[in-house]
Amino acid sequence: MAGKKILLANDHVEGIRYYDAYRKHGGYTSVEKALKMTSDDIVEEVKKSGLRGRGGAGFPTGMKWSFLAKPEGVPRYLLCNADESEPGTFKDRYLMEYMPHSLVEGMIVSSFALGANTSYIYIRGEYMWIVSILEEAIAEAYKNGWLGKNIQGSGYDLDLYVTPGAGAYICGEETALIESLEGKRGNPRMKPPFPAIKGLWGCPTVVNNVETIATVPHIINMGGDAYAGIGVGRSTGTKLISACGNIRKPGVYEIEMGISVEEFIYSDEYCGGIADGKKLKAMIAGGSSVPILPHNLITKTAAGEPRLMTYESLADGGFISGTMLGSGGFIIYDEDQCIVHNTYTLARFYHHESCGQCSPCREGTGWMEKVLHRIENGHGKMSDIDLLVDVAKKIEGNTICPLGDAAAWPVAAAIRHFRDEFEWHIQEPEAAQRGNYPHWENRPEVVA
Ligand SMILES: Cc1cc2nc3c(=O)[nH]c(=O)nc-3n(C[C@H](O)[C@H](O)[C@H](O)COP(=O)(O)O)c2cc1C
Repeated sequence: MAGKKILLANDHVEGIRYYDAYRKHGGYTSVEKALKMTSDDIVEEVKKSGLRGRGGAGFPTGMKWSFLAKPEGVPRYLLCNADESEPGTFKDRYLMEYMPHSLVEGMIVSSFALGANTSYIYIRGEYMWIVSILEEAIAEAYKNGWLGKNIQGSGYDLDLYVTPGAGAYICGEETALIESLEGKRGNPRMKPPFPAIKGLWGCPTVVNNVETIATVPHIINMGGDAYAGIGVGRSTGTKLISACGNIRKPGVYEIEMGISVEEFIYSDEYCGGIADGKKLKAMIAGGSSVPILPHNLITKTAAGEPRLMTYESLADGGFISGTMLGSGGFIIYDEDQCIVHNTYTLARFYHHESCGQCSPCREGTGWMEKVLHRIENGHGKMSDIDLLVDVAKKIEGNTICPLGDAAAWPVAAAIRHFRDEFEWHIQEPEAAQRGNYPHWENRPEVVA
């Protein structure tokens, strides 16, 4: 099944980064259409489309929008989450860098639907060159009457700002993002109250991912029902996947939800197979936070069904034999990659990025890094494996924000599926320092 392109249909048009080419190829028509609709009708179309948030959690966007409080005389805000710091995820960067107007257009339609007159794109500090690209696109939109006062004579006013963060993964968590935007340290807030009730400066706020917002103009143009007709079941539409690791063709791909994982990895339209003729050892499907899968659970579920690129199929088997679509950060590992080393690297990342507010995450991520470091360096004890599982369990579900879960799941899943490789590192440290685990293809049965 060849993938249908919506978001990236025009990404190779010359000059599409700039207003003239973007407008010539249908840009801003959704704003013209939306300004003639009521905000309730726009929200209804988004609900009908079945669009689910592309930031990771997959929460239905129309439903999130309908939760927004609308007290009289209180401003509402739309914040675009462009923090994109999840290892393996770089699809928002592609959209903003090559098609910045698609995000600006999405911000206008979405802000109008939510009744926001001031909106922000909060972007990770490392994307400094994209700040300039977005600011240029925003300036072009002001010049052509799509932003500012009385947009296209409709009476609707909107100001749009780009605000860079300072390079902290935690600021991608929506309430930490709000704190940071308010000029404070990016610590996640306790919920409730949720941002829909009390967000930026205590006002009702919606936070959405770049890809989510850039999809809205297409839903308005084609209609919610037509968008819902693409994809499979509750995984509607298309999804951007950033693919990296040991594949022949790393890059950002737009897939129609429902293509098989096998097609995505092996077809020349997408990843083009495993690089250098090597064998597939493991896969992370949705950014570093989601559970890693061993080779025997990648293209087929534990029940033997073909694994599809949908929220549901990737999650088939739960945390025992499934994973998550997450943010679409797709990482492929070949037979030469060391799972212990990879798990240690991720644990180091989460320890570094923990904001330190909750003790289970602050202390637990540090312990996981320390224990993995000693296993990786040949000083591990067999009891360390269960110690890691125990620490991961104590973090999971016990923190204000899901960074704790994001740190615990990769460690728990790596041990669940690759315990034998951890044991080999502990029992035969010298061999482990010199080469790859020789028995990786003989996967033991998955246990809870
Ligand atoms: C530690 C952490 C980092 C996150 N980073 C991002 C991010 O970079 N981009 C993003 O869109 N969502 C990120 N999220 C999810 C956001 O909190 C939020 O759910 C999302 O922006 C909502 O947008 P959506 O409904 O369009 O998916 C992160 C969550 C956590 C816990």
